[in-house]
Amino acid sequence: MITANDPIRINNTLVKNRLTMAPTVKFDYAGEDGKVTDKHIEHYRERAQHGCGLICVEATAVTPGGRFAKNHMGLWEDEQTEGHKAITAACHEYGAVVIIQLNHTGITANPQCGPAIGPSAVPTRDPEVLSKEMSIDEIHDMQESFVSAAVRAKNAGYDGVQLHGCHGYLINQFVSKKTNLRQDEYGGSDENRARFCAEIIRSVRKECGEDFIISVRTTGIEPDIATAISVAEEYVKAGCDYLQISTGIEWEDPSAKEVEGHYNKFCSLGVHFHEHFKGRIPVSCVNGINTPEQVRYLIENGLTDTVDLGRAVLADPAFCEAVLEGAPYSKCFDCPRCQYGPMMPHKCPAYSAIAR
Ligand SMILES: Cc1cc2nc3c(=O)[nH]c(=O)nc-3n(C[C@H](O)[C@H](O)[C@H](O)COP(=O)(O)O)c2cc1C
Repeated sequence: MITANDPIRINNTLVKNRLTMAPTVKFDYAGEDGKVTDKHIEHYRERAQHGCGLICVEATAVTPGGRFAKNHMGLWEDEQTEGHKAITAACHEYGAVVIIQLNHTGITANPQCGPAIGPSAVPTRDPEVLSKEMSIDEIHDMQESFVSAAVRAKNAGYDGVQLHGCHGYLINQFVSKKTNLRQDEYGGSDENRARFCAEIIRSVRKECGEDFIISVRTTGIEPDIATAISVAEEYVKAGCDYLQISTGIEWEDPSAKEVEGHYNKFCSLGVHFHEHFKGRIPVSCVNGINTPEQVRYLIENGLTDTVDLGRAVLADPAFCEAVLEGAPYSKCFDCPRCQYGPMMPHKCPAYSAIAR
């Protein structure tokens, strides 16, 4: 039986256990220059120190226009690399593997940061305003921005990158038929809608080498699981090493967060993907996993390769030790909307309750 304490190989890198920290963005940590600050470094150091096997650093913008907000971290220029070296050093010091999630908001661009652009002209945050359909040259430039950011990530000491392919951002917008109405090689079939990301994967592999981990956090349902798996197959064909499964654009199921048995429907998407890709590529599931018992159930029953932890490790970095060693921990309060994580992780009521 595999346990949460067992190592797992991702590409050629050994991860010391099955616990991964999910990407969770922080807003007021960075300034408008998008550079890493000491707050980021300490945040990730603390999670590595408490035993996370792999840390996926939060969504990081590949162009200034692709930021969530003006105080959002970036890797769009070389000057931003230096601070990331401190994050990777802090994580490596405690034996964690560390990758970084790369993102562009696309159609959902924050107007304070840049124009809404995407595969097609569709309603944006402001339903009255349509996004600008990207030309083929603009698509290639954007792919180049992802690849350049990945090269910077490698230079900063990251073990790999994760392409943000879910939650309705640019890569996901190419995959969804709701936002991709194109009739050229980037629209239409599953293969074509996956092409934007698949080409990025191939170029990152070429530029960053065979050993560099390339992960995609992909949508587990778009509009159905079979189509989402078919898209993910394209990523695997292109050289993706590790899939994390979350949600996309075309799924609004009010019961998705309700736990049925040991996990919720979001998490079950990862379980489906794991069943499909078993033995070929490691798969991680995420969402609502906030007790050690849930983690153990998922791993020990062979339902997933790794368990991705968001709010559980925001609430208490010692959650990992609770799983691995049975140590005490402070449980996430499951606030209706996690209003603390992105702005003030230190104000999370569960985190604040811990005597340090
Ligand atoms: C504060 C906060 C920030 C988040 N930022 C990101 C992000 O940068 N990238 C991403 O893919 N998901 C992001 N998410 C989603 C989480 O990675 C995760 O999928 C979600 O919180 C569900 O998992 P959980 O129940 O373990 O928290 C964020 C979630 C929270 C609460």
